[in-house]
Amino acid sequence: MEVKTSLLDNMIGVGDMVLLEPLSEESFIENLKKRFDHNEIYTYIGSVVISMNPYKSLSIYSAEKVEEYRNRNFYELSPHIYALADEAYRSLRHQDKDQCILITGESGAGKTEASKFVMSYVAAVCGKGQEVNKVKEQLLQSNPVLEAFGNAKTVRNDNSSRFGKYMDIEFDFKGDPLGGVISNYLLEKSRVVKQPRGERNFHIFYQLLSGASDDMLKKLKLDRDFSKYNYLSLDSATVNGLDDAASFRTVRNAMQIVGFMEDEVQSILELIAAVLKLGNIEFKPESRVNGFDESRVKDKNDLKEMCELLGIEQSVLERAFSFRTVEAKMEKVSTTLNVAQAYYARDALAKNLYSRLFTWLVNRINESIKAQTKTRKKVMGVLDIYGFEIFEDNSFEQFIINYCNEKLQQIFIELTLREEQEEYIREGIEWTNIEYFNNAIICDLIENNKNGILAMLDEECLRPGTVTDETFLDKLNTVCAEHQHFESRLSKNSKFLTDHSLPHNCFRIQHYAGKVLYRVEGFVDKNNDLLYRDLSQAMYKANHNLIKLLFPEGNPAKVNLKRPPTAGFQFRASVGTLMKNLLTKNPNYIRCIKPNDKKAAHIFTDSLVCHQVRYLGLMENVRVRRAGYAFRQAYEPCLERYKMLCKQTWPHWKGPAREGVEVLLSDLQVPAEEFAYGRSKIFIRNPRTLFFLEEKRRQCLEDLAALIQKIYRGWKCRTHFLLLKKSQVVVAAWYRRFAQQKKYQKIRCSALVVQSFIRGWKARKLLRELKHKKRCEEAVTTISAYWHGTQARWELRRLKKEAWNKHAVSVIWAAWLGTKARRELQKLKHEACSKQAVSVIWACWQGTKVRREYRKFFRANAGKKIYDFTIQRIIQKYYLGLKKTMPSMSPIDKSWSTCPYGFLDGTHQELRRIFHLWRCKKYRSQFTEEKKATYEEKLAASELFKDKKALYPSSVSQPFKGDYVEITKNPKYQKLNSLVEDKVLLADVVSKINRANGKGTPRIFLLTKKCLVLADQKTGQVKASVPLPDLSSVFVSTQNDGFFALKLREGATSAAKGDYLLSSDRLIEIITKLYCTGAASAERNQIKIDISDEFLVQFKQDKVCVKFIQGTPKNSNSVSCKRKNNRLLEVSVPSP
Ligand SMILES: Nc1ncnc2c1ncn2[C@@H]1O[C@H](COP(=O)(O)OP(=O)(O)O)[C@@H](O)[C@H]1O
Ligand SMILES: [Mg+2]
Repeated sequence: MEVKTSLLDNMIGVGDMVLLEPLSEESFIENLKKRFDHNEIYTYIGSVVISMNPYKSLSIYSAEKVEEYRNRNFYELSPHIYALADEAYRSLRHQDKDQCILITGESGAGKTEASKFVMSYVAAVCGKGQEVNKVKEQLLQSNPVLEAFGNAKTVRNDNSSRFGKYMDIEFDFKGDPLGGVISNYLLEKSRVVKQPRGERNFHIFYQLLSGASDDMLKKLKLDRDFSKYNYLSLDSATVNGLDDAASFRTVRNAMQIVGFMEDEVQSILELIAAVLKLGNIEFKPESRVNGFDESRVKDKNDLKEMCELLGIEQSVLERAFSFRTVEAKMEKVSTTLNVAQAYYARDALAKNLYSRLFTWLVNRINESIKAQTKTRKKVMGVLDIYGFEIFEDNSFEQFIINYCNEKLQQIFIELTLREEQEEYIREGIEWTNIEYFNNAIICDLIENNKNGILAMLDEECLRPGTVTDETFLDKLNTVCAEHQHFESRLSKNSKFLTDHSLPHNCFRIQHYAGKVLYRVEGFVDKNNDLLYRDLSQAMYKANHNLIKLLFPEGNPAKVNLKRPPTAGFQFRASVGTLMKNLLTKNPNYIRCIKPNDKKAAHIFTDSLVCHQVRYLGLMENVRVRRAGYAFRQAYEPCLERYKMLCKQTWPHWKGPAREGVEVLLSDLQVPAEEFAYGRSKIFIRNPRTLFFLEEKRRQCLEDLAALIQKIYRGWKCRTHFLLLKKSQVVVAAWYRRFAQQKKYQKIRCSALVVQSFIRGWKARKLLRELKHKKRCEEAVTTISAYWHGTQARWELRRLKKEAWNKHAVSVIWAAWLGTKARRELQKLKHEACSKQAVSVIWACWQGTKVRREYRKFFRANAGKKIYDFTIQRIIQKYYLGLKKTMPSMSPIDKSWSTCPYGFLDGTHQELRRIFHLWRCKKYRSQFTEEKKATYEEKLAASELFKDKKALYPSSVSQPFKGDYVEITKNPKYQKLNSLVEDKVLLADVVSKINRANGKGTPRIFLLTKKCLVLADQKTGQVKASVPLPDLSSVFVSTQNDGFFALKLREGATSAAKGDYLLSSDRLIEIITKLYCTGAASAERNQIKIDISDEFLVQFKQDKVCVKFIQGTPKNSNSVSCKRKNNRLLEVSVPSP
């Protein structure tokens, strides 16, 4: 629920001076003071806001405050500048009335701050959106830029506006800002070249020097040190609470937001730098022949740098400081400038440069912020103009400023006091006149076209002959002497002759806000605002776009001999336009008051405030307000607005509007003293009554809105319901169709199933019948076959019987036997046949049964067959493949193809084995007897020595030839051969080892079936003959040597000499033959073969041990035998 508050709630003093009781100047000031002490800086006089400068920051400007004041009635909350801004904005939006906010007050009273609060409030409450926000931001950011270039520290205000500013903010019909237009009024340009004590030049100079980067300063040929520049006052170069460097960054940023290009900013800063440089140019006199002095530039460095900055030819500018060309009709005369004139020219140039730059800046900002649409706009103007100024030393600028303030006061008087009173009279409302001071007379003194001060000044400036400030004062003294607000020592009005507070070169004007003494010095010059043409031409020649733009009159093609309008004239004209503009708008007043002269918080100087209250006419304001009516409105709009509050007037009133309003008010029972009927307007005395009406109207609007809503909702629900109903019918129809479709499909499916079952059953029955038929047919065939068989047999028997009769008994007998046998056979066959037939039929029957039963598994059955067939096929392929890859018939050929199928691995190996055995058999079967014997010997050798004696492997490849000495052929051994009776099985040369030294002697070794013989190699003489039965065993070593010992049976005759230790390379053949021969003869025991590396040999009586050792590599490759001692022979065999 909305909480109703009022201006009267928690009030300190009174919030609205209209309510002040008793009303006197003291109580007025007292009320202001009380409120000021409680930080209540705003107070109303009706709809006018009085604002006291608190000189400290207050927390009453937050976003919450904005929300609080948004869309509230003016008198609902405690006084605030936001209430005024809200009122103005809402009138603009809802009543389509252009507004202006007039902010007046002395310098430092808080006008500029107030204008900023108003703008920020409007920005906060008006529409939102990307485009709108951009416009708002640009409007707000134009402030810091203009303040940097147009504000300066004065003794009254550290951030004093040195130009007048009027800003029109334009809105569309919704109240969204579209853009704005700024007008500026007379910049106080004299400040550029000279500042009163305790004041500064425009902020931008200090900001640039403090805030620019070293790089930028270098580019601008500047030095950070303020003291290097003549135009900058030093005593107050830094201001408390002002950070120039930070401000510079803010300004740069604001310029960027407003839409200045980088090169534009650069040009602007170059101009600022040029002004500083210009101030440093100094002149010295140079005497000429004609006795006059001519000025010359003293130190050309600054001039040079300035010319470089602006792209001006140095000589052109230098000349312009020394000469002046005067053009009159067809003539051109060049005169020299003395030093004073040169300084004057320099300063004029600096002032012009700066003020033109400022005007250009304002125009450039306007270009950026101007509304983009051409539709009708609503306008809210905010006027923040320099306040009334009274300095110790007041000059032309103060005169102009104060004139402007007079005009504003005039407007205030016009609209609030005079206009109001006149309206009462016009409307025939009873009214007691209230006295107030009308300053129209002062305005007239200044601006009167005939004998106004400005007109006099212009006249004096344009007059030929010598014109000085004194001649101007003389003129004033004569023309204005009679004026009651003009005072001058030398005027004809003798009462000032003795007034010592009035110096001779001054005049005094009694402004509405007090008397101000103006010194005439400089009035003429400042009004003329003369810039020598040579200088403007020099500027135009500059190679710098901005400078060229600022001095269009320097264009030689456009030489204009007419004098430009004077500063006073221009200002009067622009103030006139401004006033006209303001008069078309609905005014809202903010009257700023300064509580003290020290710029200090908490100090309230009664006299100072009293003075301001007086000259601002606030007391009169209150009085008029109290005597009059708070609100008035023409009858038509009033009736239009409130007609819904009364049955007779709603919705249409047929009669005249005034009567309608009368009916309306009496119906609402508004007390009669609360209103008065004028001729064309209704006057409402108290805001309370207005609020009452507004509240009623609001409630009524709510009711009306509810009614409209009700009807609309009813209509909406009805149409919605009808639509739903219609949709429901459509949905139901579709659903029914769908359900029927489903049902039909189900029935159709069931019919199909039943049909298929019946068809199946019928088919099965037919199949059964067909099968039965087929079996019957088969049975018939079988039976007929049997029958035929039987018939045939009968026939055969008959034929046989016939034959039997015909043939002989034997034949008959034989035939009979044959027949019998055949019959028997047939019987057996038949039996077997029928047995088989039974089993086949049984199998068939089983198969049929199984098939029938497992018909559905038929595929599995086929799988088995396919499997069997595949396996068969694979095996067939395997065998055919094997045929192609058969290895050779050689038994030693180990090759055998790899098995191509894993599951046949076993078979494959088995086949290999079988094949190998068969191949060996084949191989063996082709041997001759002789070869067979040889192989048997080889086999015997293998059995004896394989893996037992190291010498064996070398013997495998040797063919066992037997006779190596060709015993039969060699004549040497003829005799020996004849001695041996049997066939020689083996003949070879061996070494007989001598026991004494282990050395060998060659001997012929002969082996026959019965004995072995040792004979001399050379002679063939038999040395020993040993019958084989005497031989008991043979010793050999395991090593790779040919040593062997023949051991004789003890007691044999041949054993008298002892055993034989022999050595031969063909040891294996010798021993094998010996062994085989021994084995062949049946009459003796088998010869034993001992294989060991140590054995005993019997030599005559002694037994000697023969020991085989592995020779060291040192020993030669041959086998050596050494006698170690009596009992030991050591054979060293080379290691393999
Ligand atoms: N409402 C305010 N709140 C706080 N300080 C204020 C307010 N109004 C003015 N001031 C202070 O007073 C100084 C002067 O105000 P300004 O608006 O520049 O004066 P004017 O424009 O009337 O010459 C400001 O710089 C600020 O310090
Ligand atoms: Mg200001």
